[in-house]
Amino acid sequence: MSLNRRRLIKCVGGAAGVVTATAAGGAAWLFAKTRETDHGYAYPESAGLLAPTPACKDSAATRAQTQGPYYTPNTPKRANLRESGTAGQALLIAGRILTTDCRPVAGAVIDVWSCDADGIYDNKGFTLRGHQFTDAQGRFRVETIKPAPYTDFGISRTPHIHVKLQGPGTAQLTTQLYFPGEAGNADDSIYDERLLMKMTALEDGGLIAEFDFVLAAATARA
Ligand SMILES: [Fe+2]
Repeated sequence: MSLNRRRLIKCVGGAAGVVTATAAGGAAWLFAKTRETDHGYAYPESAGLLAPTPACKDSAATRAQTQGPYYTPNTPKRANLRESGTAGQALLIAGRILTTDCRPVAGAVIDVWSCDADGIYDNKGFTLRGHQFTDAQGRFRVETIKPAPYTDFGISRTPHIHVKLQGPGTAQLTTQLYFPGEAGNADDSIYDERLLMKMTALEDGGLIAEFDFVLAAATARA
């Protein structure tokens, strides 16, 4: 692969990206009839909203961010995005998907993608891409690697993880997650501290990151 090609397939977000609003009105809200998300994944039969969790207070929906130009649909259903030979610092991302009134969302889909340890996105295959559904308590766990920072198209990108989520009865959310303490955070015009993951470093060199998403209710279709 030529250097130019390798540079072009890096994800830059920003002006080239597509912004998906947290409560995107007018989108293809087909799930009411088909029980499918906007991006085509069918909800499991167990999908639904649970009783409010007492540990949570009403909260605003998680901030949306640009999808960037390199989202690939129809990813494999898998929680472990690392494959044999995948280089990079092991990263486990764990959390819950909640509604704004603190109801865990069971059976919500979360689609995760990132560049690799060299700052390269796989736009032909599904390397470091995959989707899964939250469990009966609205929880998810993704095993991947910490992606590299890079500068492309004049935009400095600090390490980040792309996510796209939706539950039955919720709006779709597209956003990015960030790592605390990164030197590049301050220089990244897309970075938002409200999207920082809570990070724990393990003795074996791996990382555990925690983040709870809050999804707005779906906008009623006309
Ligand atoms: Fe990106």
